[in-house]
Order: sequence, then C-alpha cells, then structure tokens
Amino acid sequence: MNFVATLGASALVVSLACALVAIAASVYGHRAGRRDALAMGRRAIYAVAALNTLAISLLAYALLTDDFSIAHVASVSSSNMQTHMKWASLWSGQPGSLLFWTWMMSVWMAAFVRITVPKIPWGAPHAVATAGAIIASFLFASAFFASPFRMSPVTPADGQGLNPLLVDPGMLIHPPFLLTGLVSTAIPFIVGAAALMAGKIDNAWIRHARGWALGSFLVLSIGNVLGGWWAYTVLGWGGYWGWDPVENSAILPLLPLVGFLHALVVQERRGMLKAWNLVLVLAAFALAVFGTFNVRSGLVASVHSFAQSEVGPYFLVLVGMVLVASVVLMVWRLPRMHSDYEFESLVSRETSLILNTYVMVAIALVVLGGTLFPVFSELFRDVRITVGPPFYNDVAGPLLLIMVLLMGIGTILPWRKAAPGLLQRRFAAPVLATLVATAALFVLGVRDVFAIATLAAAILVIVASLREYAVGTKALRTARGASWPAAFGGIFNRDPSRYGGYLVHIGVAVMAISVVATNVYQEQHRVVVSPGETFEAGGYTMRFEDLVVRRPGVDGIESDIVAQVTILDGDRVVDVMEPGRRFFTNFPDQPTAIVDVEGNLQRDLYMFVQGWDEDRLTELQVFVNPLQQWLWIGSGIFVAGGLLAFAPFRAPRRVEVTATETPPGTQPA
Ligand code: HEM
Repeated sequence: MNFVATLGASALVVSLACALVAIAASVYGHRAGRRDALAMGRRAIYAVAALNTLAISLLAYALLTDDFSIAHVASVSSSNMQTHMKWASLWSGQPGSLLFWTWMMSVWMAAFVRITVPKIPWGAPHAVATAGAIIASFLFASAFFASPFRMSPVTPADGQGLNPLLVDPGMLIHPPFLLTGLVSTAIPFIVGAAALMAGKIDNAWIRHARGWALGSFLVLSIGNVLGGWWAYTVLGWGGYWGWDPVENSAILPLLPLVGFLHALVVQERRGMLKAWNLVLVLAAFALAVFGTFNVRSGLVASVHSFAQSEVGPYFLVLVGMVLVASVVLMVWRLPRMHSDYEFESLVSRETSLILNTYVMVAIALVVLGGTLFPVFSELFRDVRITVGPPFYNDVAGPLLLIMVLLMGIGTILPWRKAAPGLLQRRFAAPVLATLVATAALFVLGVRDVFAIATLAAAILVIVASLREYAVGTKALRTARGASWPAAFGGIFNRDPSRYGGYLVHIGVAVMAISVVATNVYQEQHRVVVSPGETFEAGGYTMRFEDLVVRRPGVDGIESDIVAQVTILDGDRVVDVMEPGRRFFTNFPDQPTAIVDVEGNLQRDLYMFVQGWDEDRLTELQVFVNPLQQWLWIGSGIFVAGGLLAFAPFRAPRRVEVTATETPPGTQPA
C-alpha cells in the first residue's frame, strides 16, 4: 500500500464529507435558528481548506520524491526534472490542475468565511451553504473522476516527464495565477447568490462583493498577461494572443467582472443597475466553470471528444446547474430589483458606465460565440467551421476601440447631468491634446484608419486621466493647504477606487497602443542562410554564424540546437541572438521552439528557427515588433492601479456636483 496515495485520496473523500456537512449545518442552523450549527458549517469550510492543503502537499511530496507508483506523477514528471519544474508539474495534467483548482478555491472560501461572512449576518448561512455546494461539486470530480492519487498499473522505472510545451519557468507562475483568478470568481458569485436567496437586494452585497471581485479581476488579469507573455516567449509564432479557445476561456470571465466593477459604482451612487450587477457576477462564475469544462473536455478540438474525457461531461452538468440556479434565483427576486433613481441625462458618467458594461457583455458574447462556433456548425451542418483571428479582429476589434473611447469619455463626464459650460471646460484640454498628438502621428506616417482611431482614443484616455489627477490634486491642495506631493497622495487616500481605476485605464490605454503597433506595424522576415552569411532585418545587419548543439541534461531535454546570429549596427555588435529548437527524449515528435528576443522601448527583435538541412542551410524567422515592451509596461501600470483601487469603500459616497470642480471625496450630494 502506498501511504502517501492512500492518505491523499482519503483526505479528498473526508474533505468532500466536510463540504456536505457545511451545507447541511448551514441549512439546518438557518431553519432552526441554531447558532452552534451555523458555526459548525463555517468550521467545516475551514476543515475543507485544511484537508485540501494536506492533499496537495502530499501530491507535491510524491512529485518531489519521484514516486512513480502514482500514475499522475509518472505521467507528468521524471527523475531528471529540476526541482522547480517538478513544482510546475503539480498543476499540470488533468488531475493536477483539478486538485490545484479545488485546493485554491477552498482557500479562498476559507478566507471569505473568515473575513466577510461575519459581516453579512443577513446572508451568512446562504453564503456558507453555497460555498459548500460549489466546493463539494469540485471535490467530487477530484476525488472520483480525476483523482491525482490513482496508482500506476505497473510502477515504471522513470516518469514520462512534463509535456515539452510546459517545460518553461513561466509555468511556475502563469497557471497558478490563471487558475486562482478563475476559482476566485466563485466568491462574488456566492455573495450575489446569498443576497438573492436572502432577498437582500440593496447595496450591502455589492460592498462585500467588490473587494473579492477586484481581487479576482486583478489575479485573472495577471494570469492572462502572463499567458500572453508565455505564448510570446515560448510558442514561437511572433505574437502573444491568438484567440485560441483556451485563451478565450481564460479571458471570458474577466469581461463581466470588469462590467461589474463599473456597474457597482452606479448602484452604489445612484441606486440603479441592481439586476444587472447580479447578472454580471453570476455570469463571471458561470463562464469560469464553462472555461474549465471547455479546456478539459476537448469540446473545441472536436464535438465528439466529449466521451474521451471523464470529467468533461461532468463539468457540462455543473455549468448547467450554475446557469439554472442563477436564472431561477434572478426570476424569483426580480420584483425587488427596481431602481431608486431614473436617468437625469444621457450625457452623464452613469451612461458611460452602463455602456461600458454593455460593451463588455458584447465582447464576451462575440468571444463565446466564436469559441463555440465550431461546435454548433458541426452539430447543425455537420461541417466543422473554426473561426480564427480574422473573425475576432473584425468583430471584437471595433468593440475594443469603442471600449477605449468610452473609457476616455467616461472619465471626463460628470455624474447625473452636466451644464454645457462645464462640459466644454472638461473636454477642451483632453480633446485638444488628443487632436495634436493624433496629427503628430499622422505626420510621422501612421495612416491606417483603425490604428489612428485606436491611438487617438488611447491618447484621450491618458490625457483625460492625467487631467483628473491634476484637478483632484489641485483641489485637495487648495482645500488642505498641502504640498503638491502630499495632495497627490491624498487623492488616492480619499477615493482609491476612482483614482486607482484611472491608473488601470492608463495601463489599458498603453497596452492598446502596443497592441495596435504590434498588429498593424509588425515586420516579418523569413530568410534561408548558410553559416557566415548575412542578411538585413529591422534596420540591422544580421550574420548567421553557425548551429551549435547543447545538451543541458535536465527536464527530459535530449538536446538544444541553437543558431548563433550576430546583430550588427554598422560595425557595432548589438547582441548575439540564439534562437533554436529543443528536442525531448520521451517526446521525439514534439520539438519546441527556443525563441530569442532582443528588446528595447522602441521595438523587439524576435527570432526563431524554422528548420535546417544537413548542410546547415538554416531557415530563420525574424519579427520586428514595434512598441512590444509597452504591452508589459502597460500591464504593470494596470496592476499597480488595481492594487491602489484595492481599498475598502469609505462611508456612503455622494454624488459629484456638476457645476464646479470640487476636491475628491468632499462633493456634496
Ligand atoms: C469601457 C469604458 C470604461 C469606462 C467608461 C470606465 C469608467 C470608469 C470610471 C468612471 C471609474 C471610476 C469609478 C469611481 O468613481 O469609483 C472606473 C474605475 C475602474 N475601472 Fe474603468 N472604465 C472603462 C473601462 C475599463 C476597463 C477596460 C478596465 C480594465 C480592464 C477598467 C478598470 C477599472 C477599475 C479596476 C476601476 C476601479 C474599480 C473599483 O475600484 O471598484 N475600466 N472606470
């Protein structure tokens, strides 16, 4: 008997039992008015987190000690894998990623039960029971359908090793962020569901859901950016986003989350969008579960691959249950969801925020439609039609442009309604600065209409946000007689969500500029060269020196064959790049690309090797990606803004006056 496997499998089964206890104790405690039962329900959630932590620690131990008698360890690890790659194999493969997902979800739930449940007495039992039901569903799959503790039929001398595409240090951070981002969408869902069950559809639930939604949004955004970075530096096709079904699954829940973060401000300040906010949190979690099902079932590879996966159909049932439960709850409580106020003017911040949520939902529908299109085409027409990047670029591209434009306009518009004089004053400087910058771009040679429009919208966002910082800082300085730096710091303290949010917007705008530059102005060169031969690309002379063979002897790598290419600017050596191909002992048919990137703020030189012949005649692909690094810089600004926004709402915030500029947070109603 394998002690580790037996203990791990038992931990999962006992954990499932605890999750069921959490449901039963909460329901009973609520009905019978028994506080001890309610406390037991909460403790059961802590027990689930503890037992899942034990289970994942045991799996990590089995991986680190090369226990190949456990089938999962034998299929994703091997004895010559380095320790950090063994850690990365913990969340790879179906059983590993499902256990990670379940463990992480239970940790978030335990934190939620500790931090938020005591603050929502009106919905505490509902929230704990919902958490128990969700975690029980995943534990059931992890314990019985895809257990990571199944034994190998025969213990192999060595493991198979990690899938070649995953042998990269990026695997240490990208999947944990993504999986954590996806599971964390459960918490706003739980708060929303508890509000619906308890019939408490006022602003209380959004205040408690906001921090969790913002955290989930941030972690999921970081996961997506890391995914783009991994695709860029590992996959070797010159880009970072290919609208692949798996990428789509990861971005889908993010869109309703962004919508929620904006719609909640409208509910908080104006008592509107109550139903919409609930729909958005419910949709974010439903899409996260859909994504898990989509990735796991092989649905997008072939509609008939349902049967190939043990957990795929199970997840489909889960998605169905989440959807049905959400719709039933919504319909039940709809009569209570009336708005406290009506629109006063279409030209207002409310309108821009509402349009924002519509744009987010529209983008989500396009991405979902594109992802599922092959399935429906096969079901109804028996032809598998896959939609690729051109579809998304044509349909989602304009929506993204509208999103950036709205972001700029929304930042400038005041709440409720605006006197014409005020509108003129607020719009004048940002619009003028945008026009000047756009004209400069035109003079510099930017002619593509889509590029000009998006760049102009992005510049508007940046200028409008900077203006907000300037106005807020000036007003606070005048009100408090503070120094400029103190007043600037003060505005974040007074209204973190607003000023942090503007920094997120600046990050998005910087990313949009990079996306336009890399998509519209990317240069591609394909050359076939012999050793010693030179070629020109990106304004440089490049000399292919020769192919070199290396044998790192770790991570299942048989050999790395790299092409040494010297980059010359005149006579000056800028860099020696070493793109190549990596071959794996246990996966002879799956060599991977070794990408080399030489970057600065203006452009990335991106190089990979397509192939070579016996005379070392080598085919190289060189991409010049303008402003690529700004994508990562923009992401950094985005994350910094998200972290700054991460502060609790202050006492009921009031609506900004429309006639004058006032210090942030001091506006009268
Ligand atoms: C589509 C047009 C958009 C508009 C009109 C808009 C508008 C706004 C406004 C007015 C605020 C400040 C709210 C307040 O006063 O507290 C805000 C906050 C924020 N925005 Fe946007 N935004 C848009 C798009 C985006 C996008 C695409 C993202 C990120 C991907 C984003 C991320 C955020 C974040 C994280 C906050 C802070 C929210 C919070 O702390 O609760 N926004 N947005």
